[in-house]
Amino acid sequence: MKIGVVGCGKISDQYFQFAQTSKKIKIISCTDQILEKAIHQSTKYSISYSKSIEEMLLNPEIDTILNLTPPKEHKKITIKSIKSSKHVYSEKPLGINSKECYEILEVAKKFNKQVCSAPDTFLGAGIQKSKKIIKKNSIGQIVHASAFMVSPGHEYWHPNPDLYYDIGGGPDLDMAPYYLTTLVYLLGKVKRVTGSHKKTFSTRKILSEPRKGEIIQVQAPTHISSILDFYNGVICTMIMSFDTHGSTLPRIELYGTKGTLHLPDPNSFGGPLKIIKPQEESWENIPISENTGQRGMGLEDMADSIKNNIVAQTHCQNAAHVVNIIESVRISSEKNQHIYLN
Ligand SMILES: NC(=O)c1ccc[n+]([C@@H]2O[C@H](COP(=O)([O-])OP(=O)(O)OC[C@H]3O[C@@H](n4cnc5c(N)ncnc54)[C@H](O)[C@@H]3O)[C@@H](O)[C@H]2O)c1
Repeated sequence: MKIGVVGCGKISDQYFQFAQTSKKIKIISCTDQILEKAIHQSTKYSISYSKSIEEMLLNPEIDTILNLTPPKEHKKITIKSIKSSKHVYSEKPLGINSKECYEILEVAKKFNKQVCSAPDTFLGAGIQKSKKIIKKNSIGQIVHASAFMVSPGHEYWHPNPDLYYDIGGGPDLDMAPYYLTTLVYLLGKVKRVTGSHKKTFSTRKILSEPRKGEIIQVQAPTHISSILDFYNGVICTMIMSFDTHGSTLPRIELYGTKGTLHLPDPNSFGGPLKIIKPQEESWENIPISENTGQRGMGLEDMADSIKNNIVAQTHCQNAAHVVNIIESVRISSEKNQHIYLN
């Protein structure tokens, strides 16, 4: 698969580095609305650059666009690329609301192009092993689940944290895709949600270099608590927060009739993975494969799926469901009612 990257920001290095060692994918060009960023990455990774996305889309050598722009740009760039006969792999979220996601699904179908979306962490060894344990019925019937991502916010480490507080940002649209993609992969689809959200501060101060001290406006909610009812009867409690300075909450746990499974951070590919059974006093560590995987493996899966004409594991249909869950929690909070998903 020959790839053109749109968006040469913070995350792009991980994809450029992955592609350097991959036998299945190759990044051959990059572009950015700030041309110097594209030139910088093209020099660093010895590839060509395009002066604009329009120029990139005219390149017949490129069959797939890797969309690494901020969320509110995703739909525009993804649809433009599909209409130029390119497949697309988009960073999460697929779109910033369901309307955008369904538009992408429709255009992809019409133009017969494959559209996939991050995260690909569920393809890693930790979550794959979890799936096997659940299949073996090791924790029995799952009754409920928890998913917690509580942090002080991206202004502590990201050089340009603006997008994470802008429209299309917030801890739910930014981080919940890791948690929800994992839960939907393990438990199936969500039927109904309820939630409460708030924007704790109207501004945030950047604490990382090079813009340390700058104030950014907050457009998105920064703390979201929710209850998710899955079709299979599991009830999940989920908290996504950029307003928390310390916590001992687990990332994801599944509570079954025969035990509890403690999953790894779904924003990672490895462990630790732990289980505790009734009457036992300590958790048992479950070994996972040493070859855990890394960000980019979703692109290889996509390359295989195009070659073999099968549906990719990171197909955008799942990503659209994830955005639908996130959006419905926000609507639930605003309307003071349960929301049933489409
Ligand atoms: N930073 C991370 O650790 C991380 C991790 C996982 C996923 N992501 C996802 O990756 C995406 C990008 O995040 P980031 O942290 O790299 O952001 P960033 O702000 O560092 O980079 C985004 C880049 O996109 C460029 N850009 C914006 N609009 C554009 C347009 N219309 N055309 C061309 N270029 C455009 C910007 O100039 C910038 O260089 C987001 O969807 C984010 O959710 C980021």
